[in-house]
Amino acid sequence: MSPTDTTTLRPSALTVLSDGVLTGSTAGYEKRLADMAGAYADAAAFQRAIKTHGADTVVYSVRFHQYDSSPGALIVGTSTLLPGSIGGEFAMTRGHLHRIANRGELYYCVSGHGLVLLDAVSGSSATVELTPGLATSIPGGWVHRSVNVGAEPFVTLFCYAADAGQDYEVIAAAGGMSMRIVDDGDGGWQQLINDEHQGYARTASR
Ligand SMILES: [Fe+2]
Repeated sequence: MSPTDTTTLRPSALTVLSDGVLTGSTAGYEKRLADMAGAYADAAAFQRAIKTHGADTVVYSVRFHQYDSSPGALIVGTSTLLPGSIGGEFAMTRGHLHRIANRGELYYCVSGHGLVLLDAVSGSSATVELTPGLATSIPGGWVHRSVNVGAEPFVTLFCYAADAGQDYEVIAAAGGMSMRIVDDGDGGWQQLINDEHQGYARTASR
């Protein structure tokens, strides 16, 4: 996308529906079960899920509105993360760090019940629980991922700088994020420390 004279644009309303449909969106994509290889701790349970549901099963979808890709332009969109669990671990997005790592992001919960897992590349972590009406502002330098801990799709409205980009490899290189979110056996969720996590030292120093 070439830089646009943004003053020639004609801004208009974007309708955000509770199921994540975004009228006025310009693009979108879907992630399928096969795209989540390596994300869940229980590899055998992941293989069973592939056999049961099929590798092409959609697990989350993203729609967004982007008018330009220049620094300062915004991408506004929705993420719809379907419910479920694999090996007791709740459905999650792949997660990423922005390629321009200091770029922040807003997540606002439209519907459902979920978490945003956050790991600072310098070592600390945070978990923000979202239900409709709640939002979190993700600072630059934080790896982030959504987790659906409810029974319905977890739909968030997001907004971030159009030049931010996404580094999806950083999580695998660190042995996963620092926390895993699992079923607590009583209808809720609990957070477990991921013993495989080795930190983001290589990321922070590059
Ligand atoms: Fe992001």
